[in-house]
Amino acid sequence: MVASIQAVAPHDVALSVRDLTVNLPQGMERTHAVKNISFDLKRGQILCIIGESGSGKSVTANTIMGLLPKVIRLSSGVIQLEGMNIIGMSPDKLRNLRGRVVSMIFQDPLSALNPLMTVGAQIDEVMAAHGFGTPQACRNRAIELLTEVGVPDPELMYHQYPFRLSGGQRQRVMIAMALALEPTVLIADEPTTALDVTTQAQILQL
Ligand SMILES: Nc1ncnc2c1ncn2[C@@H]1O[C@H](COP(=O)(O)OP(=O)(O)OP(=O)(O)O)[C@@H](O)[C@H]1O
Ligand SMILES: [Mg+2]
Repeated sequence: MVASIQAVAPHDVALSVRDLTVNLPQGMERTHAVKNISFDLKRGQILCIIGESGSGKSVTANTIMGLLPKVIRLSSGVIQLEGMNIIGMSPDKLRNLRGRVVSMIFQDPLSALNPLMTVGAQIDEVMAAHGFGTPQACRNRAIELLTEVGVPDPELMYHQYPFRLSGGQRQRVMIAMALALEPTVLIADEPTTALDVTTQAQILQL
């Protein structure tokens, strides 16, 4: 697979990963989480990464998001988002890309959502952080997003705290947040485990 990939990614490639190797801390059962992986994701394409538990899927996703824990070290490779190399990029620049160019739906919505903020405020915050517009515009867009992802009674849900929602509803809220800025690349780390099959299909069409 690696050998057939060109050294330089063509223009229509939104995300390009080359020879990515991520080392694990000493004392783990393996020395690396991922070793020499390469792939390209073109605009409009869906790429599925499969592998057994512990094979490095979440580590790969977190590396692309620039969210690796300190103990895990990227040892080699190149990651390009819309042609920009993100390895070694400053935290400020990375923050600017996250949400806008690349966004992630996490495996566990309860630990990713802020328990002390209403659902609506959290979606608004994503947009406000990137200068989306007036508070009213953010609110309207948040309710539109909640409607799109199929949360029941979006106007009411907007004012709820995450603990009041079911697992599936929380997952939809996470998806709404991830879609808020219409990112070029959306990473989904096993996001539909909490959803029924019909909803999984709906989500994939969004
Ligand atoms: N914070 C961490 N500290 C040390 N090792 C870690 C850490 N996070 C992940 N690992 C190790 O990295 C390897 C890959 O883990 P990862 O979470 O990417 O697997 P995965 O493919 O997402 O598995 P699953 O399907 O169970 O979610 C595993 O060997 C794991 O033990
Ligand atoms: Mg995982």
